[in-house]
Amino acid sequence: MAQPNWNPSLYDQKHSFVTEYGKELLALLAPQPADRILDIGCGTGHLTRLIADSGARVIGLDSSPQMIESARQNYPDIEFMLADASDFALDAKFDAVFSNATLHWVTRAEEAVACISRALVRGGRFVAEFGGKGNTANVIAAVRESIRELTRREIQHGWYYPSIGEYAALLEKHGLAVRYAHLFDRPTKLEGEDGMRNWLIMFGSRMFQDLSDETRQQALSLIEGKLRNKQYVDGEWFVDYRRLRIVADKL
Ligand code: BEZ
Repeated sequence: MAQPNWNPSLYDQKHSFVTEYGKELLALLAPQPADRILDIGCGTGHLTRLIADSGARVIGLDSSPQMIESARQNYPDIEFMLADASDFALDAKFDAVFSNATLHWVTRAEEAVACISRALVRGGRFVAEFGGKGNTANVIAAVRESIRELTRREIQHGWYYPSIGEYAALLEKHGLAVRYAHLFDRPTKLEGEDGMRNWLIMFGSRMFQDLSDETRQQALSLIEGKLRNKQYVDGEWFVDYRRLRIVADKL
């Protein structure tokens, strides 16, 4: 799936929880000073910076030119490269590949796993978290129903949300042994009264791309109405994230 046209400052302002939750995943990565680490989907570079602070040598990779530009401005002493997670090849090999909140955008999942496997040294580790099976299911259902009611059209959400079994099979096929896999719910609080609308505009723009401005606004209001019961709790919007967390070793 093509990613949205990211706006790095809006992303950092309104969706800083991505970095905050990513810190839990960093603990699982446990970077060591001698490690060479590749951070796939580095975004604005904040987690890449934390990896570098451990003393490890790190390269941040992202497919968004806006994000890479922002990461380079934020952290000029770190190496960042513009590349597609499903189509990259580097001369260097890495002790670990890390990826937080990115791989649900990568629909060429098998190609991405093949690239990741090739990038790792034997015994190297892959530590990742992203949307797993059932991620954002309530949001997607409300978007689908609303667009159907307004236009009679069916939309595809286009994200890649695999089950543990599906993803483990891909990893094994490409020479990675799964040591840990966990699929868990993490309802995530959004900022402000327009939190759900802002999330949909920031991350879900592709689902609305064929709509006129007027129909898009109608759809957003309809979606909010449908979700209010389940996803608006004590005056706060929550998105129904379900994470797939993986640790695998290269054989
Ligand atoms: C996620 O982190 O699960 C996610 C973020 C944006 C769009 C879809 C999923």
